[in-house]
Amino acid sequence: MASLIPKSTIEEIRNSINIVDVIGKDVDLKKKGKYFWGICPFVSENSPSFTVDEENQRYKCYSCGRSGNVFDYVSEKKGLSFPQAVIEVARNVGIKIDSKYTENTGGHFNENELKLIELNKQASEIFTHLLLNTDLSTNALKYLLEERHLSRETIADFQLGFLPSQWSLHDFFEEKKIPVETQLESGIISQYDDGSFHDVFSNRIMFPLKDSYGNIVGFSGRTLDKNNSAKYINSKETAVFKKSKLLYHFDVAKQAAKVSQKLLLLEGYLDVIAAHKAGIDYGIASMGTSLTKDQLQLISRNTPKLTIAYDGDSAGQSATWRAIEEIKNFPHLQLEIVTIPNQKDPDEYLQQNGPGALKKIFEEDSTSINDFAFEYLKKGRNLENVGNLSDYTNDLLNFLNEHPDPIANDLTLKKLSDQFGLSRSVLDQSLKRNDIDVSKRQVRQSSRQNDNP
Ligand code: UTP
Ligand code: MN
Repeated sequence: MASLIPKSTIEEIRNSINIVDVIGKDVDLKKKGKYFWGICPFVSENSPSFTVDEENQRYKCYSCGRSGNVFDYVSEKKGLSFPQAVIEVARNVGIKIDSKYTENTGGHFNENELKLIELNKQASEIFTHLLLNTDLSTNALKYLLEERHLSRETIADFQLGFLPSQWSLHDFFEEKKIPVETQLESGIISQYDDGSFHDVFSNRIMFPLKDSYGNIVGFSGRTLDKNNSAKYINSKETAVFKKSKLLYHFDVAKQAAKVSQKLLLLEGYLDVIAAHKAGIDYGIASMGTSLTKDQLQLISRNTPKLTIAYDGDSAGQSATWRAIEEIKNFPHLQLEIVTIPNQKDPDEYLQQNGPGALKKIFEEDSTSINDFAFEYLKKGRNLENVGNLSDYTNDLLNFLNEHPDPIANDLTLKKLSDQFGLSRSVLDQSLKRNDIDVSKRQVRQSSRQNDNP
């Protein structure tokens, strides 16, 4: 456990920053009398109830009642713990906090890691600027606005960007005096054998990838070229970018999950953005890989329930099956499945049916894992054929044994018996026999593992 950050350090940091500047980045503040006034950043309101008291370095909202000092503000706004907020503010004013205070707070980056994060931040800001405000990105912007139907506001919210091929990120970093080692280490710049530098993400739409605290740790870039086989490429693994431990949009979604009490797992970045357009901010995605234990740990620590809504095509459905298998190891995580109709992905579904329809299927059309297994295991089988039906039934019974939920399983057995005219008592007996088979298999497996030190 980290020790408490000393009061004197906290005071020093507080004294070197003005709360008006910090909040002024998020809120349009106007001075009236003693206070600065603005629209509350925590609740939606039409007239300003949010005040900042420069003299006492405190804020207070007369609408939602929130109040506090600069650390409380950063903590509330970014979903950080108090020590994390102190570290975050300290970083902005360049005060170094001894590492013994920063361990285990999620802000424990070493100096080199901080450099990479700072580089990513600068890169992300320039990508967004280039996309929204320059002629070099006309095609990319047109694609996002007209073909993907994103608004400029959504582009800004998700900090999407573009790296035009006529522009050199390497030159930009040179101007900013970022050491070339850091540039190369970030993975955004690479070097050819002849010593020349090139931008890895040239001519790609940029999606910043963040850790759970909102630090930009890497990027994914989408090509605009339909013939390019690498539709998305990611930053290479770096000291701060570990793809298997991250989930896209998790920093925002974990806050939203405090209200929704669930997270929504999607396949693509644009599906997460589609969910946002439908009013759902608890959407997350893995970076084009199947779910890892680390990612599941993140999820299960932050929510009791996970909804999986992968693409409705057969690849998406197989990925759902694999995810269900992986989640077996997290028995406390409740799981439900949404199948997007007509083999679509959520973004395509939204384009065709609108945000209201997408919100509805996410919130109301989920099924249990048993119902998913019931349909999924039918694939590729002709159930008129006795052998196929028997295999199907055995696979389903195996699944039920591995997911022992008495009530859900009772309902599934009833459905199985009704749909195929199978005798319920035979199914019950087979389930028990299967149970023994499964536990025998497990004993055999564990003794094999013991034999193999
Ligand atoms: P999809 O191809 O379904 O992406 O891959 P998408 O979101 O529908 O893409 P758009 O809408 O055409 O832009 C799903 C996810 O798999 C990863 C990405 O994370 C993507 O969001 N992926 C896909 C890659 O990493 N590399 C690829 O070449 C393709
Ligand atoms: Mn897709």
